[in-house]
Amino acid sequence: MADLITKPKGTYDVLPSESYRWQYLESVLREAASDFGYKEIRFPTFEYTELFIRGVGDTTDVVQKEMFTFTDRGGRSITLRPEGTASVVRSFLENSLYGAGLPVKCFYIAPNFRGEQPQAGRYREFYQFGVEYLGSPCPSADAEVISLYATILDRLGVRNTQLTINSIGCPECRPKFHAALRAFFESRQAELCPTCLDRLSRNPLRILDCKSPICQKIAEGAPSCLDHLCPDCHEHIEKTKEMLTAMGIAFIVNPGIVRGLDYYTRTVFEFISTDLGAQSTICGGGRYDGLIETLGGQPTPGLGFASGLERLLMVMDAQGIEISKPEGCRIFLAALGEAAEVPVQKLVYELRKLGVRAERDTTGRGLKAQMKYADRLGAVYSMVIGDNELTAGKSNIKNMSTGGVIECTLTAEDIKNAVM
Ligand code: HAM
Repeated sequence: MADLITKPKGTYDVLPSESYRWQYLESVLREAASDFGYKEIRFPTFEYTELFIRGVGDTTDVVQKEMFTFTDRGGRSITLRPEGTASVVRSFLENSLYGAGLPVKCFYIAPNFRGEQPQAGRYREFYQFGVEYLGSPCPSADAEVISLYATILDRLGVRNTQLTINSIGCPECRPKFHAALRAFFESRQAELCPTCLDRLSRNPLRILDCKSPICQKIAEGAPSCLDHLCPDCHEHIEKTKEMLTAMGIAFIVNPGIVRGLDYYTRTVFEFISTDLGAQSTICGGGRYDGLIETLGGQPTPGLGFASGLERLLMVMDAQGIEISKPEGCRIFLAALGEAAEVPVQKLVYELRKLGVRAERDTTGRGLKAQMKYADRLGAVYSMVIGDNELTAGKSNIKNMSTGGVIECTLTAEDIKNAVM
């Protein structure tokens, strides 16, 4: 026998017996997004590498360490998408979506790729549900996107989550904050990891997000961005907080939340689940008022969030949130003898065309084994068709759980009426 080939490290299969959980989650996400006025956008799985270097930022872990990048046959550098925001903005500009008027509100459910060290809740290919709200500078947009995610958690029945928000300022107030951070970290320079040493001159904010325990410890004493906000940024975060409070959405302010991507400005936020281990962030997002310009567009504000579907399903699992399985087989038609083969095949097809989940055996089993198979399929009803039934033009429909029987003609319409 040939060797078995396994899946690449950090990937997973969604098996046929589990896919209903994903379908349920995706249906709740789609419906909530649509209730809030977001339309679906779909984009390529790979983009030119330049998009992420410019969009996500070359001082981020994602760009520096995690991207799956390769050169295509034409010699161009291609990257498997590590996140969706840059792709949405690229599409917004390339397709002039702003032409139809702002804001543009879209959502996506799409796979992303990051070469991280895999662990529970952290994969190299993972799915995100994300929304992007392009063209609004107002705190009401911040409050809206956060309230959309709060609604999703509510509809899924997910409990024990914490919303943390922060403001990391804008190009106006950031130089002063960066200078304060730089001064602080320079005094601890000898202890920083090599990546953070490089970040010290290029983007000291990134040090606050470093995964090294030593850098994290040092960062605890770092200056707070909230103390360095310009009046406009201060007003923006205060108004956002006021709206969240009025909407009854609980949050805490944590100046340590800076997010791992370079495009953020002003509001940043994360939803954490207390029922997950190390990878407890189920959703992260914020404003990126400079990103559209960075990617070649007119200055246009934007914001959004993304949530890992694997982590959401893990929380639902940990909290025992039941997702009902879709109904399996409605009626199993058992063929008894050669003469029944063709009529059963035809009847099953006709029932399916009428929307009845009908099944039959296609592996040549005997009657007893066929009935066992019907049980395994979870058939609600069964019907045996043999020579006698064919001659009579009717047979009994048996309710598999009560054992009760009713007589029915061998026509798809009558069977449908009897079992639906
Ligand atoms: P992010 O924080 O990199 O943000 O990812 C958002 C969410 O995706 C995380 O909170 C987590 O639930 C999930 N996630 C990230 N990496 C992994 C992984 N390796 N395995 C499993 N799940 C993961 C962004 O991607 C931004 N584009 C979000 C955004 C949209 N900001 C504004 N608009």
